[in-house]
Amino acid sequence: MKIFSPGRINLIGEHTDYNNGFVLPAAIDKGITFSVQRTGNKGIYIQALDIDESMIFQEGGTLPPSLSWKTFMAGILLELENEGLDWNGLKVDFTSNLPIGSGMSSSAALGCGFIFALVKYLNHPMSRKAIAQLAQLVDHKYVGVRSGIMDQFASLHGKKGQAILLDCQSIEHQLIPFQPEDYTFLLVNTMVKHSLAESAYNDRRAACEKGASLLGANSLRTVNFEQLNENKAIFEEDTFVKCQYVLEENDRVKKACQALRADDFITFGQLMNASHEGLSQAYQVSCEELDFLAETAQNLTGVLGARMMGGGFGGCTINLVKTSELDLIKSTLISAYKAKFGIEAETYIANIAEGTYVMDTDCD
Ligand code: GLA
Repeated sequence: MKIFSPGRINLIGEHTDYNNGFVLPAAIDKGITFSVQRTGNKGIYIQALDIDESMIFQEGGTLPPSLSWKTFMAGILLELENEGLDWNGLKVDFTSNLPIGSGMSSSAALGCGFIFALVKYLNHPMSRKAIAQLAQLVDHKYVGVRSGIMDQFASLHGKKGQAILLDCQSIEHQLIPFQPEDYTFLLVNTMVKHSLAESAYNDRRAACEKGASLLGANSLRTVNFEQLNENKAIFEEDTFVKCQYVLEENDRVKKACQALRADDFITFGQLMNASHEGLSQAYQVSCEELDFLAETAQNLTGVLGARMMGGGFGGCTINLVKTSELDLIKSTLISAYKAKFGIEAETYIANIAEGTYVMDTDCD
């Protein structure tokens, strides 16, 4: 059985998911292909074909000594074992065309795809939502990143030509068509991933939780601007600014959806630019490479909006561009980035595609 597990883009709504807010991601046509077979041997054999690494995991096995792709697999296997799933006697291999560390969420594609492949192959009933939640739990419990649900949810629930408006409080979603003829999403990869990414992510989450608890709220979702402003005095400046960003970003997601529904790509692009500014100045999860790419793009003809995408501190920018100007925009950004940082940026077109699916059911 072969399974395709896609990466995701996020159109807008960054660092809002773990605040029970709104996000607007979509699955893309790049991802990880898993293949599952039965061997009958004890334990499970997993092969990462692209890097020529493998692992054998037995029931009640222990985690690998250092963090790697094997940590995800081991965590998932232990959790599924607790749920009573017998994964003994399987061989799973995978290969990816998703650039790692680019902010297109290769880790969600890996975790969700692996769970999906196992439960499908073993006919174990598990909803896509439950798969997303299990992959998220593995991030928290075994990987040590207190990620939100956006990446996992988008990878599993994507639909071709549709963005996903996800309410991270109710975990309910609506699909919003996104198939403009004249515009394209261009991703530009900084090719950097700064090391503070994981710790800063958890710090931001903690700051938001502190802000919510100062106001007696469970999350920032139930806090409004008046409440925040009225209570400014009890906040440290930094916490206040970060909470304010989250409220503003939630607002931008709602406005962005209205703009999409009205085919108003100009407004949509302006909201993307404002999102970048908030992420860079207020939330402080950008870096000089991302700022340079986003700001350079924002000043080019044919770019409607540009912003950093995902957790930050590296990875990609996402740019809404006029398809007719695509080639020129791409080459201008690549050469400007090379001149400034001496790094050759990669670019990708993000085609909005189906969420995780079974490619074929051949079992040998
Ligand atoms: C990472 C996390 C997501 C989300 C984004 C920021 O991709 O995995 O849950 O918080 O960062 O929006």
